[in-house]
Amino acid sequence: MKEQIEKIMAELNELKCQTDKEVEEARVRFLGKKGEITALFDEFRTVAPEMKREFGQRLNVLKKEAQAKIEELKSLAVSAPSQTAAAEDITLPGDALDLGSRHPVSIARQEIINIFRKFGYDIAEGPEIEDDYHVFEALNFPANHPARDMQDTFFVSSGHPNPLLLRTHTSSVQVRTMEKMTPPIRVICPGRVFRNEAISARAHCIFHQVEGLYIDENVTFADLKQAILLFAREMFGPDTSIRMRPSYFPFTEPSAEVDVSCNICHGKGCNICKGTGWLEILGCGMVDPNVLEASGIDSKKYSGFAFGMGVERIAMLKWQVNDLRHYFENDLRFLREFSSCVEV
Ligand code: DAH
Repeated sequence: MKEQIEKIMAELNELKCQTDKEVEEARVRFLGKKGEITALFDEFRTVAPEMKREFGQRLNVLKKEAQAKIEELKSLAVSAPSQTAAAEDITLPGDALDLGSRHPVSIARQEIINIFRKFGYDIAEGPEIEDDYHVFEALNFPANHPARDMQDTFFVSSGHPNPLLLRTHTSSVQVRTMEKMTPPIRVICPGRVFRNEAISARAHCIFHQVEGLYIDENVTFADLKQAILLFAREMFGPDTSIRMRPSYFPFTEPSAEVDVSCNICHGKGCNICKGTGWLEILGCGMVDPNVLEASGIDSKKYSGFAFGMGVERIAMLKWQVNDLRHYFENDLRFLREFSSCVEV
């Protein structure tokens, strides 16, 4: 036993470790449950009584030495991860960055803007928190007019003659543009709108519209029809045809809703167009003289047309998205489908 103690003591003196891992291995080798020093303590039980005192002391010294040595080595050892880091080849190319892509609503919105830019339209913007006057009153919806019910409104303030509200349509930007500019006016107004609607596959409380306004001398319904036809062909393809159905909006007279020929079945009838061969894309009409006058434009001299479309709706028709909620849920599987889309 004496030789063994001396041998281990000598080994401890010579012991060298580089890493945490090596120190731990040495601790297990000498002091672990099955370690060499632990084994000597087991053996100690068999030592003759007269030798116990001497060997007991030697063993205790050995154990203390071993513990001190392990502590010392621990404090000097380099931790393993940085060892690996040092071994890394820093000249290797880095990990590729995961780039995002544009949202389908942004792509559709930009496409609409690009098309009307080509036709010579400027872009106008207005506030999302609007007042009653610009969203309703100046657009020929007097207080208590039943047409206000078509657009369930989020009010920001109440009990005021001109309460603040979240705009329900971008037609308010028409009014702000006519107040500021003198004809000829040719603008589109893209923006977010808000309606107090229950969220479903076909409705949401936040969505995007693009409004259009053209005012000059002698603007006619024929000009409106041509502008919409050219837009539809740029957006949905050169074979697209349009049809206009009489409709009602307080701010236009006459008013129409516009359908494009279904780009899936080409007019034959499918479940996207519900068998009709047509898809509704926007509302439009000749600006009501009351609206021109409310914003200081002489309705005897000038006439104009206006139109308004939902960007999500256009995007749904273009890419056959069947549920509006996909646009707002940030599901990467949906968003990645548009990563290779390029605007026209
Ligand atoms: N503001 C209408 C809406 O949100 C859309 C609209 C229809 C705008 C006809 C127009 C228009 O400028 O002429 O439902």
